[in-house]
This record gives sequence, C-alpha cells and structure tokens, in this order.
Amino acid sequence: MRAVYASAINADDPLAGLTIGDRPDPQPPADDWTVVQVTASALNHHDLWSLRGVGLPADRLPMILGCDAVGVDETGREVVVYPVLPDRDDPRGYSLLSERYQGTLAERVTVPRSNLIPKPANVSRLDAACLPTAWLTAYHMLVSRGRVSEVEAVLVQGAGGGVATAAVVLAVHLGKRVYVTSRDPGKRERVAALGATALEPGARLPERVGLVIETVGVPTFDHSLKCAAPGGRIVVSGSTAGHLATVDLRRIFAMQLEILGSSMGTSAELAALLDLLDQGLQPVIDEVFAFSDARRAFEKLAGGSVFGKIVPDHRRCPGGAAGRPADPGAGSADPAGAAGHGAGRPVRGPASPDTRRWPRVRRPRRRPRPGEAPPQADPGRPRQPRRPRPGRPEGPKETARSRRG
Ligand SMILES: NC(=O)c1ccc[n+]([C@@H]2O[C@H](COP(=O)([O-])OP(=O)(O)OC[C@H]3O[C@@H](n4cnc5c(N)ncnc54)[C@H](OP(=O)(O)O)[C@@H]3O)[C@@H](O)[C@H]2O)c1
Repeated sequence: MRAVYASAINADDPLAGLTIGDRPDPQPPADDWTVVQVTASALNHHDLWSLRGVGLPADRLPMILGCDAVGVDETGREVVVYPVLPDRDDPRGYSLLSERYQGTLAERVTVPRSNLIPKPANVSRLDAACLPTAWLTAYHMLVSRGRVSEVEAVLVQGAGGGVATAAVVLAVHLGKRVYVTSRDPGKRERVAALGATALEPGARLPERVGLVIETVGVPTFDHSLKCAAPGGRIVVSGSTAGHLATVDLRRIFAMQLEILGSSMGTSAELAALLDLLDQGLQPVIDEVFAFSDARRAFEKLAGGSVFGKIVPDHRRCPGGAAGRPADPGAGSADPAGAAGHGAGRPVRGPASPDTRRWPRVRRPRRRPRPGEAPPQADPGRPRQPRRPRPGRPEGPKETARSRRG
C-alpha cells in the first residue's frame, strides 16, 4: 500500500528522511485489532519531531508517520481513530501511533477496535481528521488540566499551530476572554477573526489571566509566567521553539502558580469533541492536500507559515493539486474510493483564500430533552440555563459576538 514514512532520521533536516512509497499492508497483531481504510488524516508537529528522531529511535525505521485518521472500518462504519495505545515498554505507559505501531499516513492502519469512535454523520471526515491529536490536546489542556471553567481569561502562546488554533476556538466557544500572541501580523489578523485579542509576543496584556496554554517553550515561557494571575495555571504540552526555559521561582511561589504538564487526552474527550463538531463547531483548516502530495504538505508544515491544520485527503487523485475542496465525503462511507485513492476523481485546482472555510463558532443546538417540546423561535423566550453534562465542557456563557454587542 502507499504510505508516507520515515526512512531515515535527520535531526537538522527532518524532510531528508521523509519517503512516500510502498509499505506492506498492516497486519493486526492481536484478535482485538482491526484494519481501517484511511480516508483523511492530518499532520502534526509530532511528525517532524519523529523525522528528527525525537521519540522515534532509528531501530524502529521504517515507520509510517501520522497520528490522526478518519476512515472506514471492517463493518463499513465511518470511524475516527483514537491514536493513544497502552505501551508497557514506554515510560509514559502509552505510545502514539507512529511511535511503536505504524501510523496513519497510509491507505490502511491497524488499531485496537476499542480505539475506534463512530464519526457522526454530520461531521465531515476532513474536519474530524483534525481532532485526534491537536484538538484533543487543546481540549485536555483547557478542560481537564487547566480547569478552564474556573477562569475568565486565557492566554494562548503562538497563533498558528494546530494546538493553538484549537485552543483559541474552544476557549472562545466557552465564552472566555482569549488573548493570543504571534510573531506574524497576518496570523494576528486571522486569530482576531476567531474572536481572540491578538498581541505581539511579550506584549503586556490588559489583565492577568487564570490560564495559559503553552506549546512554544523558551521564547514565550517567561511571558507566560508574567501574565498569570495569582493562583493561575500554565499548562504545557509542547516546546516547539526550545524546551530548556528559565523559570523565575520567586514568581511561582509569590503568585502561587501551577505549572502543569499535559499530553493528548482520553477517548471520552475525543468523543466529546466530535459532539461539539456535530453541534456546529469547526476546526481551522489551513489547507487540504491530496495524499500523494504529502511532501508539499510537510514542506508547508516545516516552513512555519501554517494557520490551523494541514489535512491530507486520502481520496484525492495521485498528483492532485492542493487546495480546499468541497468535502464530498462528509457523512458517506466509500471504502472503494478510500482504497483506490480516488482514482478517476477530478483533480481540483488550488483553492483561493475565500473558498477556505473559516470556523463558524455557533451556539450549539440544544436537543429537546425527553418529554420536552422542541424550542420555538421566540425571541422573547427567557434563556434556559444549560444543565452541565459529565465529560463535556460547560456551555458558552457568552459568545465573542455577544461580547462585541
Ligand atoms: N504533548 C502532546 O500530547 C502534544 C500534542 C500535540 C502537540 N504537541 C506539541 O505542541 C507543539 C505545537 O504543535 P502544533 O502541531 O500545534 O504546531 P507547531 O507547528 O509546532 O506550532 C507552531 C506555533 O508555534 C509558534 N512558534 C514556533 N516557533 C516559535 C518561536 N521561535 N517563537 C514564538 N513562537 C513560535 C508559532 O507561533 P507564531 O508563528 O504565531 O508566532 C505557531 O503558532 C509541538 O511542539 C508539538 O510537539 C504536544
């Protein structure tokens, strides 16, 4: 089968070890594993770390890259793959797909059946492919580790990364005041359009925040500490720009700050994210590439100009041009198309920026409870408070639009 894999490790030039070619079909290692025909995946900085040899020793090569996948399982269901696997030989107690077991950037991937979550019919496979790593990490950082329900304001360091854009969309959706730093004026403009206040790196915030989402590392960590309110939490899940940060311990004890590590999230959290998408939330997608165009997709990721997720579409023609297509696969299972990489499907040209979808942050539709009449279109009807549901984030108290009046 066709696959995108690491054939060599190169710490300085990660793309030197990137190969697109044929690999053997995956063989389930146990009876409770199955094979998924991948229809969409997503790239993460994790794939670049792997190519640099971080978390992927050379003796495991060749290794198919990719943690994120949406596909069709053996019963014909459309599923989202939860990429975290128990791993007794890993000090963390788990590993991600593409670390010990082959990854998702292929025609097929094998995973335990218990790692499959049904994809809601209304959620496009391209949107769902954004969730399993970056969005899950952002959700876990905000909701579980960061206890975002207790804070009013959130700072997200770095604007364009997959985790950063997910954290912004989720925090805005939850009604928080969201501040974001970025080195790039274009990214600041785009993140402001998501409902956040965009700032230059190191800028003074109008207020101290209860929660900082940190994935950048050395260049931003001191600023993260300085922006935290008394008792504030700095949740760290990555260090793209350097991990040996300096910490002023006086600030930690005087302000009673918490620095919390965070990695990935639970499958229940991934299911909760799918629910949010089913209710109208949309991931930020930078660009969709044909699967066969994976090298260009990796070059864009490594170039650092990305805003949101890069999504390889495994149903696009070999040699297809990049661009954001209308999603022909939303809600449909098409194993033949997945297996054949869409042979014979039309190739679309590059999308102009205005054809790319921007996330619509909408108030989730509240489904009528049993015995309750469906809501009427009555602008005078008083708002009902949302009942908190276990395993889900609180509903939006106010939206960015309502704050702007
Ligand atoms: N622990 C986990 O489970 C987990 C899961 C997912 C990701 N991660 C980690 O989290 C990090 C983010 O990953 P990602 O895939 O979302 O995207 P990414 O490509 O690593 O993120 C790029 C972001 O980092 C910022 N950035 C990069 N270099 C910078 C620098 N020198 N100074 C300031 N900002 C810089 C950029 O901000 P601007 O360009 O806007 O300034 C951009 O927003 C990675 O290190 C990844 O390994 C960890």
